Amino acid sequence: MVHTSYALLPLFSLVAGIVANPVYLPPPLHIPLTRRANNRNASVERFASHAEHLRAKYGWSNSTLAKRQGKTVGVDIIDQAQDSSYIGTVSIGTPPQSFKVVLDTGSSDLWVAVADCLSCGQTPTFDPAQSSTLQAVTSNTGNTQQVTIRYGSGSVQGTLAQDTVSMAGFTVNPQTLLLVDRMTSGLLDGDVSGIMGLAFEALASTNAVPFWQALATDGQFSSPEISFWLARHLDDENPPDEQSGGVMTLGGTNSTLFTGDVEFVPLTTVGGSPTFWMLEMTGATVQGKTVSIPTGDAALSAIDTGTTLVGGPSDAVKAIYDAIPGSNPVPSMSGFFQYPCSTDVQVSFAFGGKSWPISSADMNLGRISSDQCVGGIFDLTLGSDVSGGGGNPTWVVGDTFLKNVYSVFRANPAAVGFAQLSDAAGGSSGACFSVCGRMA
Ligand SMILES: *[C@@H]1O[C@H](CO)[C@@H](O)[C@H](O)[C@H]1NC(C)=O
Ligand SMILES: *[C@@H]1O[C@H](CO)[C@@H](O)[C@H](O)[C@H]1NC(C)=O
Ligand SMILES: *[C@@H]1O[C@H](CO)[C@@H](O)[C@H](O)[C@H]1NC(C)=O
Repeated sequence: MVHTSYALLPLFSLVAGIVANPVYLPPPLHIPLTRRANNRNASVERFASHAEHLRAKYGWSNSTLAKRQGKTVGVDIIDQAQDSSYIGTVSIGTPPQSFKVVLDTGSSDLWVAVADCLSCGQTPTFDPAQSSTLQAVTSNTGNTQQVTIRYGSGSVQGTLAQDTVSMAGFTVNPQTLLLVDRMTSGLLDGDVSGIMGLAFEALASTNAVPFWQALATDGQFSSPEISFWLARHLDDENPPDEQSGGVMTLGGTNSTLFTGDVEFVPLTTVGGSPTFWMLEMTGATVQGKTVSIPTGDAALSAIDTGTTLVGGPSDAVKAIYDAIPGSNPVPSMSGFFQYPCSTDVQVSFAFGGKSWPISSADMNLGRISSDQCVGGIFDLTLGSDVSGGGGNPTWVVGDTFLKNVYSVFRANPAAVGFAQLSDAAGGSSGACFSVCGRMA
């Protein structure tokens, strides 16, 4: 017996290339070698076949490797109502029924409206009777399970079920989801039928493993990441209700959509496992000057594609508008502020070392009177004491901010990363980098 031979070199280089995944490192190869001088070619071929046998045995053959390496797939996003919501398409059941769902990194449940749904408007609905793979989820006593999911903007109620769910060529079977038969009126707009929660299982009202997390755990992603470019249509003249809204990449990043490095900031977790995609906000600037914002528990920020604006703790939001000359609370909108429309407002937020500017276009939600415009950062906590927030986010950092960066939600090691958008993705507001500067 010998332990190595020139015929095995390709296998060793393969192992060296994937040494980052130590779980499947094969043991040293033991290949019987009977070298016969006049039959050298035959024994060389035998090495190859032994090597392939060992590859298959230890999971390194072409087919298993392809599975383990997983995929990275871009999903076209739909921008609804001028950056109000960012939508993707999901298929549920057999044969598949297709629905538009809000892509929401601020929650963890998947749900879809079903026929006869109360207060669901004209939204297209899932018909469970048409799916041969649908299973009810019952309790120990055999009853169907009713679940309520509460959001910042309302709630939904329905029955737990399991079915085959697919998005962009990825499939989870079975995926637990909520079949919603009642919701707060106005929770969804237009032809959107549900929400795809993209945060962690610990936050799920259905107690189900979220679709994305099932894929990441199963090794179906190249990297355990979901990445976003969210396009901006806030300023379009006569925009249609729905238009192309960027790209969500499942299983990695798309390098054509950002420039430079992604700055990853480790998630802040409370009690061990991650819930929200939560970071600590470490700084804010307005018109190029640092403003004082609360730290620690009062700086916990949910990075949330499913929220249109940015909400923050009262003191910080007041400090931001205090730094904008001529700004005032909007009398008719609790927690909102207005400022002279002629002011180009430049706000930036830092989470790690870098400070990321919000374009003045995203900050300005539009005119409320002849010369006053409403700002996209609002008071979330309305004077509550946030000093001992118990780990709840006091900031919800939504699309007003996220349109200005390429964002990467990484499960392991758990972090959110930001990078500058490439020109192909509309660019980050380059002018602001020189005005706001980057914090050291
Ligand atoms: C071994 O392979 C070489 C190169 O492919 C070839 O020229 C030679 O004829 C082969 N010998 C035998 C015994 O098959
Ligand atoms: C495995 O993949 C490599 C590279 O893609 C290819 O050259 C080789 O022929 C494949 N081997 C088999 C047995 O399919
Ligand atoms: C990356 O994004 C570009 C621009 O949207 C797109 O054309 C390309 O297909 C994407 N690549 C992948 C692998 O998704």
